[in-house]
Amino acid sequence: MTVQLVAPRARKDVVWQQADTTANYHRSRQAVPFAEAQFEIVERVLRAHEVEVLHLLDLGCGDGIATQAMIDRFPVSRAALVDFSEPMLDAARQRFVEAEVDVRIVPGDLLVNDWLAEVEQSAPFDLVISRYAIHHLPHERKRSLYAETFDLLRPGGMFINIEHVQSPNVEYQAAFDRMLIEGIHGLAEDRETIEDTERAYRNRQDADTNILAPVEDQCAWLRAIGFVDVDCSFKALELAVFGGRRLRH
Ligand SMILES: C[S@@+](CC[C@H](N)C(=O)[O-])C[C@H]1O[C@@H](n2cnc3c(N)ncnc32)[C@H](O)[C@@H]1O
Repeated sequence: MTVQLVAPRARKDVVWQQADTTANYHRSRQAVPFAEAQFEIVERVLRAHEVEVLHLLDLGCGDGIATQAMIDRFPVSRAALVDFSEPMLDAARQRFVEAEVDVRIVPGDLLVNDWLAEVEQSAPFDLVISRYAIHHLPHERKRSLYAETFDLLRPGGMFINIEHVQSPNVEYQAAFDRMLIEGIHGLAEDRETIEDTERAYRNRQDADTNILAPVEDQCAWLRAIGFVDVDCSFKALELAVFGGRRLRH
């Protein structure tokens, strides 16, 4: 049964189901800095906590980039990937078509929990990872999703979120926007001016889909749910890596 957890509202996140949003995101994704540094932090945190990642869940997986990064670093044997965008899920299917990992692609809307029953068939997980996806959900749904995540982990397993988080003021926000605009501009053709890039960035299809929460608040939510060893292990302006562990017993 699908449980409606959040009052229906005008949804903006559904632009992610469009092929042009997906294509635009994949074109500009490499302009978002620190991707490798973040994956390295995720690996170090998991190794320090002696989490051997065999079974993982990727929430808002897109084309499966985070799952791939974990496969490259750990002996992953089974992965479940959830997203509500068919173009994204197609990209993930293509990425893993020859993978030696048991990959289960689960079409599902994180705003509700229509995907949970199918994912539970692959649970418990050593790692639940998410990258740049949960910030599209309202705060109350972020919190309830974190609680569902806790229940899907094996004792000792970890949840790690690589995420856009709320800046403390407009100046920090401006510093982040500038960093991203310059990064996207660096990928653009020579004739595109930085003003062109900024205009395109501010008018992009998914510009209205972010619902950012401070990382401190999100860490507090995790602790209240029962996660231990909660920390923000990486932060550069709006980009953060945070998460926690389910107790071993
Ligand atoms: C910025 S992309 C990140 C994709 C991928 N994790 C990555 O790191 O490249 C955001 C992803 O969240 C997904 N998403 C947004 N809202 C969602 C929802 N309500 N349910 C499921 N997926 C959602 C989008 O379809 C998209 O794949």
